[in-house]
Amino acid sequence: MATVVEQPLAQRDYFTDQSILRDPYEYFEAIRATGPVARLDSGIVFVTGFDESVEVLRNVDDFSSVISTAGPVVPLPFTPQGSDISEQIEAHRQEMAPTELIVTYDGAAHSASRAIMNKLFVPARLKANEAFMHRLAAEVVAEQVAKGSCDIINEVATPYVTLVIADLLGVPPEDRQKFREVIDAGPPPGDMNAAAENQQSYSLMFMAKFFHEYLSERRANPREDVMTELANATFPDGSEAPLMEVVKLAMFLFAAGQDTSAKLIGNAMRFLVETPGLQAELRANPGRIAGFLEEVLRLEGSTKATFRLVKRDTRIGDMPVKAGDKVFVGLAAANRDPRRWDDPRDLRIGRDRIAQHVAFGRGAHVCVGAPLARVEVRVLFEELFAQTSDIALDEAVHGPAGASNLAYEPSYIIRGLEDLHIKLTPR
Ligand code: HEM
Repeated sequence: MATVVEQPLAQRDYFTDQSILRDPYEYFEAIRATGPVARLDSGIVFVTGFDESVEVLRNVDDFSSVISTAGPVVPLPFTPQGSDISEQIEAHRQEMAPTELIVTYDGAAHSASRAIMNKLFVPARLKANEAFMHRLAAEVVAEQVAKGSCDIINEVATPYVTLVIADLLGVPPEDRQKFREVIDAGPPPGDMNAAAENQQSYSLMFMAKFFHEYLSERRANPREDVMTELANATFPDGSEAPLMEVVKLAMFLFAAGQDTSAKLIGNAMRFLVETPGLQAELRANPGRIAGFLEEVLRLEGSTKATFRLVKRDTRIGDMPVKAGDKVFVGLAAANRDPRRWDDPRDLRIGRDRIAQHVAFGRGAHVCVGAPLARVEVRVLFEELFAQTSDIALDEAVHGPAGASNLAYEPSYIIRGLEDLHIKLTPR
């Protein structure tokens, strides 16, 4: 019988090899063994170090976000020339980031749009919305508790986060389901099955027409909602934001947080059903739920990586990088860097300076929705604990904890389970 020789971990292709999905951290450690910044055979510069990741994310002068969604495997549409390719990037921006989302913007265009977004999720608005989140979570959870079991990701988390953002933005109830279906039908961001293609977001294009209508209507008839605020937004220089720009911002807000927040709920739930004593601790101390979620973001954040294109020759840590190099910023690897975190693989609620993790990125592009994600996920867990006396893995579906057949979404960006079936014992 022929022996199958497994390829060494560090030589596998992170972007297409689905054997890495179950434990990407093992792969990151294999790369980290060659240094916090490593150049792969493909030429991609792979950053696993915490300080080095922060360094890249903070440096918007030398690194461009234009490939932050497409990723480093899509070929550049030009041959980089010289030590500064800023002009080449601008000349080809449309080809590299065809849907032109804020997360791919650089420089003044980014600052102008970001200033509009920064005003949306202020604490007062989230506080006002928290009561709605509790009502909604209570309803969604009650329905599943009555059944006794559910798939927490697809039956609870996803509809819940969709309704939260839809309500906050002011998307009419009759359109919400339609959008959900289009998003569900599409591939995840960073689809491994189409790694080298510049993945167009069909769902965003589908939604654009609707958002265009909502925003035009809000310009004519203002209401008390985020959509109206977006419709009438002005740039910091006082000029009115073009309608198409606010359509893109609103759509991205609607879409960006859905997968990520829903998958975070699944990742947190996995810890709850697999870690002895954790549920009892959180049930007895609900004040610790927020700290638990912060630690889940560090250990199993739902965004594994983001990407940058080197604009000007520079260094990352000790490694010189050239204009045109593509950088993999391993957020999930940085969050387990042993130089930054003691016993990085352990779940420890109340870790020192936990809020410094990079699960939401850092610097100019740091996640706009982080405050919302934190509140909505906490509220859902509060409701789950309030309505149940025990939550357990559904072993009839997944097999025993530890040896379970849990499957992760085939994405090189998103870290999240395809589904997670649990049993709910009513309180
Ligand atoms: C657990 C949930 C979430 C995670 C892990 C997450 C993660 C991230 C990360 C890592 C970035 C930075 C990307 C980069 O630097 O290239 C980002 C940006 C962004 N996120 Fe989130 N996100 C989450 C939820 C949300 C939600 C709920 C919303 C919207 C309501 C949202 C909206 C955005 C936007 C608009 C940006 C782009 C910001 C910019 O480019 O200036 N995210 N997110």
